[in-house]
Amino acid sequence: GADLRGLLLSRIRDVPDYPQPGVVFKDITPLLADPAAFGALTGALAELCVRHRADKVVGLEARGFILAAPAAARAGLGFVPVRKAGKLPGVTHRQAYELEYGTAEIEVLGDAFVPGERVLVIDDVLATGGTAEASLELIRRAGAEVAGLAVLMELGFLGGRARLAPALDGAPLEALVAV
Ligand code: PRP
Ligand code: MG
Repeated sequence: GADLRGLLLSRIRDVPDYPQPGVVFKDITPLLADPAAFGALTGALAELCVRHRADKVVGLEARGFILAAPAAARAGLGFVPVRKAGKLPGVTHRQAYELEYGTAEIEVLGDAFVPGERVLVIDDVLATGGTAEASLELIRRAGAEVAGLAVLMELGFLGGRARLAPALDGAPLEALVAV
């Protein structure tokens, strides 16, 4: 509710002109360092796992790992890392996506999911939606079902929610705070 949003927002720091002039970076390290705020955040994410009947939790490297792993543990679920390409051994699935300059690839292990398993994807920030969109395609290609996408913060002015609608295909997008 409003109390949770206020607590979370009060611990997210605006850093002007980072990583480049004109951009305001949303720094979540004060939130991570505050046990009350971090505990409330991981608790809220764990509740979303239950509400959306997730069987497993995916975290998106790197900042998504920090939130998804404790949320999974609190919900009593297993955790699956979606990594930047080249970090996982053996058979994997890969998905390319566009960055502001050039492209990147993410990867998940080929045996990460039981076919049909419901997966909740967790990341820190939804900006343009490119990272999340690639992760949803990757997870489906790996044989899982998308239970939803949950982020700490949605940057509404970048239009990520609209971009993600086809990839979500009716699955919920939950943002704990929106700016
Ligand atoms: C950041 C952020 C999200 C993504 C959001 O990750 O953590 O994952 O960008 O942007 P998008 O919606 O436009 O795709 P980034 O890849 O910068 O680095 P990280 O490894 O620190 O998480
Ligand atoms: Mg990231």
